[in-house]
Amino acid sequence: LASIEVDLSKIPVGEAVVVKWRGKPVFIRHRTAAEIQEAEAVDLGALVDKQTDAERVLAGKAEWLVVLGVCTHLGCVPLGTKTGDDRGEFGGWFCPCHGSHYDTSGRIRKGPAPRNLEVPSYAFASDTVLKIG
Ligand code: FES
Repeated sequence: LASIEVDLSKIPVGEAVVVKWRGKPVFIRHRTAAEIQEAEAVDLGALVDKQTDAERVLAGKAEWLVVLGVCTHLGCVPLGTKTGDDRGEFGGWFCPCHGSHYDTSGRIRKGPAPRNLEVPSYAFASDTVLKIG
């Protein structure tokens, strides 16, 4: 299937899920207000791959972060989606393969990965249904 629909109503604030889309894992995180604030407050000068948080989420839907679960270094699946996972030094995801740390916007902050976690094309089919692809 080219696109999938995901019911967001069962993802509490602060938690995340992984779904499969086109054979790849996609992380969907229901961000807390603190996580959004942290992502928005980062100075672009501190970023390797300079993107604002607003460029990575949909306007008015900043609580939902949707990224491909594929480390941009060599393609491992980063940790940080399951409860209790190591989310790394910036509170987003941590790739244990070679130590890449991503922030709460899925941007690379430390380690060998060259780019931010990729944001796939997605839209809201309704308030609680996300359509990816
Ligand atoms: Fe993630 Fe190397 S594949 S750090």
